[in-house]
Amino acid sequence: MLLSWDALIEEIENCRACPLCREIHRKVVGQGDIHAELMFIGEGPGADEDLQGVAFVGAAGQLLTKMIAAIGMTRDEVYICNVVKCRPPHNRTPEKEEAEACMTFLRQQFLLVHPKIIVLLGSTAAKAVLGDQIRITRDRGKWVEKKGFFFMPTYHPAALLRDPAKKREAWEDLQQVASKLAEVRHSAPEGSPGSPHS
Ligand code: URA
Repeated sequence: MLLSWDALIEEIENCRACPLCREIHRKVVGQGDIHAELMFIGEGPGADEDLQGVAFVGAAGQLLTKMIAAIGMTRDEVYICNVVKCRPPHNRTPEKEEAEACMTFLRQQFLLVHPKIIVLLGSTAAKAVLGDQIRITRDRGKWVEKKGFFFMPTYHPAALLRDPAKKREAWEDLQQVASKLAEVRHSAPEGSPGSPHS
């Protein structure tokens, strides 16, 4: 069943499906254009996000903002969210059960935003969405198309901060995203959302 945004936000706020909610300050639902063509999915809130209730506002978030700018867009023009909506203690990777408990919310966000292109930031997001077989170092930069949606696994900005040598590959992945965006906009039927004449 497709929820309204208000109902979804209420369900997330009230969720007690896994232990992560016990130690948090705020849930982090996601931000940006709820009709965006481009969606970014990260892993889960860190300390700054947990305090502010906003996704990707810490150091990794600032780099993500630059990555979005590198394809000529702003944070307000895309939708940004995470696999888990509660901060895992000490920023550990969410357990599989925690990610699974939160997937129903990510699915609803995906259905509501209905993006054309989804950038999966890092292993947790790529595995949660595309399956456990995904290896980010092997599979980044390769499109996965499912039911007309285009998924691009790439490095998480926190990984780029830890290892700046990975930035070149991440930038190449983003160029592919920019090209695909131009392609899907171009092929949108006239008058439809995304068409230059709508
Ligand atoms: N890392 C993430 O995966 N998500 C955030 O919101 C912040 C840091």
